[in-house]
Amino acid sequence: MADFPFKALVVSENPDGSFSRRMVEKHAHDLPAGEVLVRVLYSSLNYKDALSASGNKGVTRRYPHTPGIDAAGVVVECVDGVYRPGDEVLIKHPEFGTNTPGGFSQYARVPSDWVMKLPAGMAPRNSMAYGTAGLTAALSLQRLQEHGISPQDGEILVTGATGGVGSIAVALLAKAGYMVVAATGKPQAGQWLAELGAQAIIHRDEINDRSGRPLLRARWAGVVDTVGGNFLATALRSTRPGGTVTCCGNVASPELALTVYPFILRGVSLIGIDIANCPTAVCRRLWARLASEWRVERIEASARECSLDDLSAEIDRILNGGQIGRVVVNTSL
Ligand SMILES: NC(=O)c1ccc[n+]([C@@H]2O[C@H](COP(=O)([O-])OP(=O)(O)OC[C@H]3O[C@@H](n4cnc5c(N)ncnc54)[C@H](OP(=O)(O)O)[C@@H]3O)[C@@H](O)[C@H]2O)c1
Repeated sequence: MADFPFKALVVSENPDGSFSRRMVEKHAHDLPAGEVLVRVLYSSLNYKDALSASGNKGVTRRYPHTPGIDAAGVVVECVDGVYRPGDEVLIKHPEFGTNTPGGFSQYARVPSDWVMKLPAGMAPRNSMAYGTAGLTAALSLQRLQEHGISPQDGEILVTGATGGVGSIAVALLAKAGYMVVAATGKPQAGQWLAELGAQAIIHRDEINDRSGRPLLRARWAGVVDTVGGNFLATALRSTRPGGTVTCCGNVASPELALTVYPFILRGVSLIGIDIANCPTAVCRRLWARLASEWRVERIEASARECSLDDLSAEIDRILNGGQIGRVVVNTSL
C-alpha cells in the first residue's frame, strides 16, 4: 500500500518531565506492523485515555504516543485475508491506545486478532457512544445478574453516575427493570439521569460515610461502583445481606478501607470488573447485547461529538471529573 498522510493526536514528554499534546501529520509508514489497516471513523474518550494523554506511565510506558483505547472504522487492507476491505470493525486489545498507537488518529494498523466485526445493526458512530465504557457497564450488569440480583431484590446504586461507565450503567440497569439510585456530584444533571431511567438521584456526599462504623443501614441490593475509595467502602457497608457490588474504577481513590464485616456478617460479594482482559468471546456477546436488547437510544443520542482538534479540552474536562455522559471522537471533523 502506498504511503499517505493522516492526522493524529500525539502526546510527548518534555525535557522538564511535563507532557504536551498536539495534532501532527503522520504517515502510513509510521504505523506499527500488523495485518489490518483500519480507517478510523470514530473513537471515544474514556478516563483511561485521559490518563494516557497526560503522561500516566502506569497506563502508557513510552512517549511520544497516540492514545485512544477505542476505535471503530472500515478495513482498508487486510494482508491475512481475515477481513475484507470495507468491513466495518472495532479494535479492542489491552495494548491498543495504551502501549501502541490508538484511536485518536485517522488510521490504525493492528494484528487481525485485535479486530472484530461491528455487531449487526450497530453503526460505527453509535458503537463509540458505548465504547469501552459501555462494555464495562454491560459486564457490570451481567455480573450482577450472574450473582442472582434481580429487579425484585431492591435498589441498585450507581456511583459516578454522570460519567461514561456510570451513565450507561444507569441506562442499562433501568432498561433491565432495576430500580436505580444514581449518585452524582453534579446535581444539575439530575434531569438527564432521570431520563436515562434513574428512579432517584442522590448527592455523592450521601454515600461518603466517615462515621467509622463497620456496617451501615443495609439499603442496596446491588451496586455498580465506578469511583472506588470511600464511596466503594461506604457502598459495601450499606449493601443488604446477599447483595453484590461491582468495582471497576478509581477516580476517587484506589484505596479501600473497611472491615471484613460486610462479607462475613452480610454475605456481601465484591466483584472486580476488568474489561481490558475480558475474553473476546464474552466481549462479543456483550457487544451483541448492546446492539439488540440492551440498546439505549438515549445514550447514543446524548453522546457529544468532538473533533481530533478539540479533543485536548475534552481530555482536561474528564481529568477534572467534569464530563457528563460520553464523548465520541469524529476523526473526519
Ligand atoms: N476496570 C475496567 O475494566 C474499567 C473500564 C472502564 C473504565 N474504568 C474506570 O472506571 C472509572 C470511570 O471511567 P469513565 O470513563 O466512566 O470516567 P468518567 O466519564 O470521567 O466518569 C467518572 C465519574 O466519576 C465521578 N467522579 C469524578 N471524580 C470524582 C471524585 N474525585 N470523587 C467521586 N466521584 C468522582 C464523576 O461523576 P459524578 O459527577 O456524576 O459523581 C465522573 O463523571 C475510571 O476509574 C476508569 O479508569 C475501568
